[in-house]
Amino acid sequence: MNNIKNIGVLTSGGDAPGMNAAIRAVVRAGIYYDLQVTGILRGYEGLISGDFIDMERKSVANIIQRGGTILKTARSDEFRTQEGRRKAYDQLKAHHIDALVVIGGDGTFTGANLFTQEFDYPVIGLPGTIDNDLEGTDFTIGYDTAINTVVNAVDKIRDTAESHNRLFIVEVMGRDSGLIALRSGIGVGAEAIMIPEANMGIEGLVTRLESGRKDKASKIIIVAEGDDMGGAFNVGKVLEEKFPAYDIRVSVLGHIQRGGKPSCMDRVLASRFGVAAVEGLLHGRSGEMVGQIHREIVFTPFDHAIKHINAAETSPAWLKLVEILSL
Ligand code: F6P
Repeated sequence: MNNIKNIGVLTSGGDAPGMNAAIRAVVRAGIYYDLQVTGILRGYEGLISGDFIDMERKSVANIIQRGGTILKTARSDEFRTQEGRRKAYDQLKAHHIDALVVIGGDGTFTGANLFTQEFDYPVIGLPGTIDNDLEGTDFTIGYDTAINTVVNAVDKIRDTAESHNRLFIVEVMGRDSGLIALRSGIGVGAEAIMIPEANMGIEGLVTRLESGRKDKASKIIIVAEGDDMGGAFNVGKVLEEKFPAYDIRVSVLGHIQRGGKPSCMDRVLASRFGVAAVEGLLHGRSGEMVGQIHREIVFTPFDHAIKHINAAETSPAWLKLVEILSL
């Protein structure tokens, strides 16, 4: 055990359902181990400006089921600069905060990695992003809830598509990653899924539609935001020209995917990660992200975690599933 007495916790980048459960776990674990816990508002922005609040047991009561983040979040340009990170370090020293838990995605960990190296300051990360695009964990906090939100929305779209004999192109989030599109697409029985990792291209999609069954009442194509085709509206335009007989509609699901009550899977994941982060810091760990692989807690260095190699789940075998099942 080392000399840590006060731990700071913040959420940064895009919010994700389950972030509150993670904050709760960090606070409760901190108190359990006789530490003081300081909440930092608005991510790295609040760290730089010293926007800090004391966290007690009650500060995190009744939040495990709430979406969003009670600590607020932001994307900070200033923290990308060395000067910004120096200000953050000075704030931590001035407030006698000995270690940090940062909850976020690849942008959050890129900043944390620089910070921990520049100042030799203990930082542990918790993967909180709906995108699931981090190496070193099977799942990130928020992903399970987000894909279930997509499935619920697209099931409704399927009803109207089926009634009107329509083809729907549904865009889901994932700036650099197709994992939301892939899992939710399989979950809704999509006829095709377009993701940046596989780059099906419009020709691939046209071939798929031409070779598919013509007598289907409805067709659903899921497009990841980051796909090379540049979004669902572009796909829609091209398909309208190629298939004038199809009645085509486009739906962009947007930020509903980031909100809402976290699923039980996300609450439990966040709870395990929060406790592991505090215990990790107390055992002298730093510069790493907590994750879960094959049900075990693992720690992965930040620079490895942000490489987000999704090879396993975006392999041809997964994509073949879509082809086989959409017959
Ligand atoms: O990183 C999570 C994410 O939801 C991405 O999938 C998406 O591209 C991005 O955030 C959008 O973020 P914002 O609306 O905050 O700019």
